[in-house]
Amino acid sequence: MTKDKVLIFDTTLRDGEQSPGATMTHAEKLEIAELLDEMGVDIIEAGFPIASEGDFRAVSEIAQRAKGATICGLARANYKDIDRCWEAVKAAKSPRIHTFIGTSPLHRAIPNLNMDEMAERIHDTVTHARNLCDNVQWSPMDATRTEEDYLCRTVEIAIKAGATTINIPDTVGYTAPVESADLIRMLINRVPGADNVIFATHCHNDLGMATANSLAAVEGGARQIECTINGLGERAGNTALEEVVMALKVRGDIMPYETRIDTTKIMHISRRVATVSGFPVQFNKAIVGKNAFAHESGIHQDGMLKNAETFEIMRPADVGLAGTSLPLGKHSGRAALRAKLGALGYDDLADNQLQDVFVRFKELADRKKEVFDDDLLALMQQNDGAEDRLKLKSLRVVCGTQGPQQADMVLEIDGADASTTATGDGPVDATFNAVKALFPHGARLQLYQVNAVTEGTDAQATVSVRLEEEGRIATGQSADTDTVVASAKAYINALNRLLVRREKSAPGYDVKGVSYKDN
Ligand code: KIV
Ligand code: ZN
Repeated sequence: MTKDKVLIFDTTLRDGEQSPGATMTHAEKLEIAELLDEMGVDIIEAGFPIASEGDFRAVSEIAQRAKGATICGLARANYKDIDRCWEAVKAAKSPRIHTFIGTSPLHRAIPNLNMDEMAERIHDTVTHARNLCDNVQWSPMDATRTEEDYLCRTVEIAIKAGATTINIPDTVGYTAPVESADLIRMLINRVPGADNVIFATHCHNDLGMATANSLAAVEGGARQIECTINGLGERAGNTALEEVVMALKVRGDIMPYETRIDTTKIMHISRRVATVSGFPVQFNKAIVGKNAFAHESGIHQDGMLKNAETFEIMRPADVGLAGTSLPLGKHSGRAALRAKLGALGYDDLADNQLQDVFVRFKELADRKKEVFDDDLLALMQQNDGAEDRLKLKSLRVVCGTQGPQQADMVLEIDGADASTTATGDGPVDATFNAVKALFPHGARLQLYQVNAVTEGTDAQATVSVRLEEEGRIATGQSADTDTVVASAKAYINALNRLLVRREKSAPGYDVKGVSYKDN
């Protein structure tokens, strides 16, 4: 059977970064884009250039650096957004402008456009984009709740105006697999010119059906899947890249479609995205969860020892998981560390990077008898803090049955040291109070979560902290064998991200009375 090609469009850096709290720094965005490019993603949606200076800079730099992937930026249906988007992507070897407008009744009501006015705007903005760039994607946002006839009409207009890809978003995760396939099939059958463009599917996961809906859309004729690493994205997230790619690989017998993705890079990028976004992967998540290849019950373990295929439909190595391996200890040297990190996906560390990790590894090995793969990953995933405004210099905590608990802290703020002593209801509360005393802010703690990375009382704890300030949300993560130190670092990490987030102003709709054609 001949295999049809399906393009993978990754929007981790745009839709994924839109999830509340998932702000990434500039350096982190460049790193993730490079990993996506290396793994064979066809199109990277690198950001929303008009949204902020930071987004613009990130998209431009990713466009300049990309080797194989097409670099795409998002733009609303107005000339200013589209021009800014083109400015950001034009340096790419293969640039794309992605412009969208909400076509469903609910979304038409927001800019207060009737069907004809919206149709005209689609014509004008897609034409404008196509005059700048020969690769234009158009999306009718909330397509799955748009009247079929109107959807056909708008898609036809976009194709005639020069769109080369038509993306059909299930913006609110409302559709179901059969409907998803039928919708794409209907558009391809009914819309004149549909044969000359690629149809894409963009599914959100509000009912947990995003991956199934995306695969069904491919059955209906879509040849581009939009997705994110770990399914990151607005609300319940998007279709997860690792899920669709592995589903196509494992079930090629019934879904004969091919992607360019090097699946052995999946685990590494999943872990990096979890770290930089501050969104830990749930243990039982398909493909990339900690338990996805773990076998607990006696019957399963027995079966696995006899034949791995009894309880595994893919090999851990297919997604880049190294097999079981021996832990390192305090006598292990640089060569052993380099080999182990290579097996975990960090195979291009420069000598100075290795030296830095080696120092941190030795510190950890002094505190912990055995350093397991997960400990090393937690170590590697620590933010290097180079761009951070706040850094923890030292922390001493007094705790126990005789309160009040007390934290002595030194914090570096914009390069200058500041110190304080604070008390609180428990060591973590005292620590967070010390941060607040040194760097007063109005952010509210929304989530505080502790997980052990490995087993034993000397295990590293990974702490996640989510903060909210005036609707802006930021999540921070850190790992340490000392849970209170990990908590302090996670809190400070979240604050640093919140400061980055403050620079971003949420893009709103056009101000009434201003023409979408104005620049
Ligand atoms: O979910 C959605 O509709 C989107 C569009 C901008 C494509 O993300
Ligand atoms: Zn979306």
